[in-house]
Amino acid sequence: MIRLSNKKILLCITGGIAAYKTPELTRIFKKNGADVRIIMTESSKEFVAPLSLQAVSGNQIHYSLIDEEAELGMGHIELAKWADVILIAPCTAESISRLSQGRANDLMSAVILASDADLFIAPAMNVKMWGDKVTQKNVKTLKIKNVNFIGPDSGDQACGDVGEGRMSEPQDIAFAIAKSFSSSYLNGMRILITAGPTKEAIDPVRYLTNNSSGKMGYALAESAFLAGAQVDLVSGPVSINAYEGVNLHKINSADEMLEKIKTLINGIDIFIGCAAVADFKPTNYIDSKIKKTDENNMSINLTKNPDILKYASENMKDKIVIGFSAETDNIIENARLKLSKKDLDMIICNDVSDSSIGFDSDNNEVHIITKDYEKKLHKKSKIRIAKEILKNIEPLIN
Ligand code: C5P
Repeated sequence: MIRLSNKKILLCITGGIAAYKTPELTRIFKKNGADVRIIMTESSKEFVAPLSLQAVSGNQIHYSLIDEEAELGMGHIELAKWADVILIAPCTAESISRLSQGRANDLMSAVILASDADLFIAPAMNVKMWGDKVTQKNVKTLKIKNVNFIGPDSGDQACGDVGEGRMSEPQDIAFAIAKSFSSSYLNGMRILITAGPTKEAIDPVRYLTNNSSGKMGYALAESAFLAGAQVDLVSGPVSINAYEGVNLHKINSADEMLEKIKTLINGIDIFIGCAAVADFKPTNYIDSKIKKTDENNMSINLTKNPDILKYASENMKDKIVIGFSAETDNIIENARLKLSKKDLDMIICNDVSDSSIGFDSDNNEVHIITKDYEKKLHKKSKIRIAKEILKNIEPLIN
C-alpha cells in the first residue's frame, strides 16, 4: 500500500526520455495524499510539457535559481526547507556527476545542497552510460553520503539497446518513497502519546482552552507507528485526523485525559507528553448557562489540574518518559528545570513566541535536552522533527 498523506515531495526532473513518465508519477503521489512541488532543469522541458506537470501537481513549476516571487528571492532555500523528501526522476548521468561533485549552479543542485531532506535518485540512461566506471564511482560517492537509489531497471531502452538503465516504473518509485517513511526500529514497543489542548468546561457553552493544534503529537504518533511501534494517542479536541493504525482516544478535559492514561499505562515502554494540558480548571462547573448580569466584573475560581506527565514519570520508573516545554522566554533554563522536577528522560522545548513554529504551525524548531546532552533541531516540518525526535529516543531504549 502507498501511504503518503501530507508528505511534501519535491520532484526534480532532468533531461531524459523517461521524463514523459513524470506526470503519471506526480498523479500517483497526489492520489496517495502527497503535496508535490516540481523543479525542472532546462533540458527536461524538451521531454515533457511544464504545463502538464503544473496541472497534475496543482503547483507552479520551479526552474530558476533566482526566484523573484520567493520571499527574500531565495527560492532554493524555501524549497529546501519545505521538502520532506527530494526525488530526482529521471536522473541523468550528467546530474549524477554534478551532484557527486557538490555543484550548486542550478536550482536543483542548489536545493539539494541546502536541504537535509532525504534524497532519492531514480537514474535513467543508456546501459553503457550507467555501467561506465566514472558513473559508478559517482553513484558510490553519493551512496556514501546516504543518497538512496531507486533502480535503474533492466530491459528495452528507448535508444534500442537492452540492459540496465531504464527508469523504474512510477508505481515502484512511489512505493519506495512511501516505504522510506517507515522502518522497524520501534518494533514491539508500546508508545503512549498525549496531544492537543484540553478543554475545561465552565458551563454547558463556555470553556477554557489554548491554541494547541495537536500537529506535533499527531506527527509523533504517525512516525512512531511507521517505525513499528504500537501507538496509543490520547488527544484533546483538534481538527486533524490520526494516522490510520494509530489507536486514537479522544478526551476533553485534563481529568478525562488522566483517567484514560491510567487505563492505558500498563505495559507502555515510552510515554510522550506532548499535550498542552490546561494548568487550571474552573473549581465548580455550573450546569446551566451562566446568565449575563449588570455587574462589570465577574470571577471564576480556578483549581490546579493534575500533572499527567508527572503521573506518568512516577508510575513508569524503569521506562522512558518524555515531556515537552513550550515557553516564550528563558526556554532552555525552564526546560532544564522541568526535566529534573518531573524526573524525565528527555524534554523537547520550543519557543512559542515565534509564530512560524510551535502552536498551529506546520513547522517546528526545537531543542532536545537530556541529562547528558542538548541538541538543536533546526526549523523543518513537524513530521521531520517527529522522525528526528524518535531517532534520538532510540539510544535510550535498552
Ligand atoms: O509544567 P509545564 O506545563 O510547562 O510542562 C509541560 C509538559 O508537561 C508537557 O509535556 C505537558 O504535556 C505536560 N503537562 C501535563 N499535565 C499538566 C501540565 C503539563 O502532562 N497538567
